[in-house]
Amino acid sequence: MTHSLSHSIGVTVLGSTGSIGVNTLDVLAQHPEHYHVVGLSAHTRVEKLYQQCLQFCPLYAVMTQESDAKDLARRLKQAGLKTEVLVGEPGLLHMVSDHRTHYVMAAIVGAAGLTSTLAAARAGKRILLANKESLVMAGALFMETVWRNGAELLPVDSEHNAIFQSLPRGAMRAESSLQQSGVRKILLTASGGPFLHTPMEQLRSVTVEQACAHPKWRMGRKISVDSATMMNKGLEVIEACWLFSAKPAQVQVVIHPESIIHSMVDYIDGSVLAQLGAPDMRTPIAYGLAWPNRISSGVSALDLFNQRQLNFLPPDFERFPCLKLAYDAINTGGSAPSALNAANEVAVAAFLEGRIRFDQIATVTAQVLDRHHGVSPSTIEHILAIDEEARIAANQIISAWS
Ligand SMILES: NC(=O)c1ccc[n+]([C@@H]2O[C@H](COP(=O)([O-])OP(=O)(O)OC[C@H]3O[C@@H](n4cnc5c(N)ncnc54)[C@H](OP(=O)(O)O)[C@@H]3O)[C@@H](O)[C@H]2O)c1
Repeated sequence: MTHSLSHSIGVTVLGSTGSIGVNTLDVLAQHPEHYHVVGLSAHTRVEKLYQQCLQFCPLYAVMTQESDAKDLARRLKQAGLKTEVLVGEPGLLHMVSDHRTHYVMAAIVGAAGLTSTLAAARAGKRILLANKESLVMAGALFMETVWRNGAELLPVDSEHNAIFQSLPRGAMRAESSLQQSGVRKILLTASGGPFLHTPMEQLRSVTVEQACAHPKWRMGRKISVDSATMMNKGLEVIEACWLFSAKPAQVQVVIHPESIIHSMVDYIDGSVLAQLGAPDMRTPIAYGLAWPNRISSGVSALDLFNQRQLNFLPPDFERFPCLKLAYDAINTGGSAPSALNAANEVAVAAFLEGRIRFDQIATVTAQVLDRHHGVSPSTIEHILAIDEEARIAANQIISAWS
């Protein structure tokens, strides 16, 4: 459903209080003539959602907990707003399926974003996909739902957005293949995170603050830790396979510490097309909102004369075992990526809570995958059951250590 920029487009932002959510609202606020906010959602941050409601006056706001929703509804009423406050997953599903929602920014973090993102696909919306975990967990089902319902999928992850921009138009259609487009490889760039050059023996003792201090991007804590382990890049390899119908061997990770080139496409005639820009998520967000047009995003022009050099390195699987685990999972296929994602989410949460060491995130994930009996899930219920089973296994492994 491509809307002309001459009509106001209704946008629902799932996870509006997070890093991507806030950046999305920043871009929307720059274009009140083109977009209006239909719905917003938060998990824990009631005050932030309240402030966002005051600014954007949405039709809907969703909180996970009923008590938070009641609190928010009372305050919004006192402020004279007519925003309807809904609760939990049923609230998210109602909001994304409403006919006044044209575009859905899927920016809830982790597996918690799957059901609502899938509902947006089922309702045939334009989905701006930040929640890569949806594709990692349910790639086949998700893509099939998008195609069957005529939804539009625009990747917001900066790398996938760059690849999308570097591919010919239509290359993401169900019936097209990379081969038909003359693509040899997708070159998925990665900054390498904060520990690219840290002595290996020190990785045992890195702190949460160090792991969350990404050298180039300001992001939520979970994705920041994923970037430090490079599991984020592994999840992105899986995401790229589903988005662009690529085989894992066609997706080459390239470490590029400057984070200026956001990814590239290598063609059979020797051409390599790339998308460059300052590391700021408002660029891919604005692209997803305006595609096939362009709108300003608030991001400054790239100062090429200030880039003294651009470096490229191959990934080191010994330093970043999570990246290898992700390649193994997508090569195995079936339910392995779901189990990988769930185990990683549990392990990252345990690291953030100080219950395991940084290097144990990979150990937990590897052990869960070793125990996992692969199947080929075809329903959302089955996928969620696999997710739950892998979480139980990961928690058992962590509990046995303490
Ligand atoms: N940040 C980036 O630059 C970036 C780049 C590319 C892709 N992504 C992807 O975008 C997604 C969001 O990342 P982020 O960095 O914006 O994360 P974040 O800052 O942690 O924000 C996550 C959002 O999801 C909400 N949320 C968390 N748990 C939830 C649950 N169980 N149910 C419903 N809502 C929940 C949070 O609500 P509260 O804040 O109210 O708790 C918040 O609004 C992730 O999938 C990430 O991989 C992010």
